[in-house]
Amino acid sequence: MELARYICVIGGKGGVGKTTSAISLAHAMGKHKKTLLVDANLSTPNAHIHLGSPMLKKSLMNALKGEISVQEAIHSHDSGLRIIPTISTVRDLKMLKYDKLKQAIRELEGHAEIILLDTAAGLNREAITAIEACDEALVITNPELSAVLDSQKAIQVANELGKTILGVVVNKHGEHRSELKVNEVEKLLDLPVIGVIPYDRRVKRAQYFKHPVTYIHPESKASKSYEQLAGLLLGKSYFESTGKDKTLYHYLLRRLGLG
Ligand SMILES: Nc1ncnc2c1ncn2[C@@H]1O[C@H](COP(=O)(O)OP(=O)(O)O)[C@@H](O)[C@H]1O
Ligand SMILES: [Mg+2]
Repeated sequence: MELARYICVIGGKGGVGKTTSAISLAHAMGKHKKTLLVDANLSTPNAHIHLGSPMLKKSLMNALKGEISVQEAIHSHDSGLRIIPTISTVRDLKMLKYDKLKQAIRELEGHAEIILLDTAAGLNREAITAIEACDEALVITNPELSAVLDSQKAIQVANELGKTILGVVVNKHGEHRSELKVNEVEKLLDLPVIGVIPYDRRVKRAQYFKHPVTYIHPESKASKSYEQLAGLLLGKSYFESTGKDKTLYHYLLRRLGLG
């Protein structure tokens, strides 16, 4: 197996759709490559809540405490998604040595080709550790100024750590009439928008049914956008055949040092 790609999903602000996007992309990418989603939001983990497994006995936290190996914390969801969930108590967090996260993540080598990390909001120690643990970062934001400005800081941190920023995903597009335009987001962040996910009620519906939207509503606009983005991130481009987004595809190859 090739060396894994470690991609963190960052954004700065809470509620923009980092967890939703990490779950949907992990599910979509998982159809093409062996993929693993890791809930690296250690203080307020909720990927397992989105997926309906609140009572898990083996989570990333058990591995970080040395009780189990990190591989033992890999769970398979009914949708096919592979996930290492996190369940933490305040006491766990007080005792936690954040550096262990980096070590644990690297121990997943050989168990997946794509390792996607969901991260905490804000730019505290744990969010920064998750960025440090990865090589690539995908920025999720909403088309509103406060979210964009918060993501600007996350981008700055990732840049300072020498990470490859794959691009920006504008999520919940079309929710408000007065929102920022995609090109305004690009200008503010000085990065290309490589995915636009519409505001779609079926995303919330999927969450209610504890499934990735790409699994339960594959025909929805949000799912199609996530599938397209997953294809772009994996470098399999139906963009290429249409010629439409060729520049975007080549941009991404260059970011990864392949073009
Ligand atoms: N594209 C979307 N359309 C509609 N609702 C969305 C979309 N993306 C996320 N949401 C909703 O927004 C809320 C916050 O999403 P979440 O992924 O938990 O954000 P974060 O992880 O950034 O805090 C959830 O209720 C989720 O269902
Ligand atoms: Mg989240």
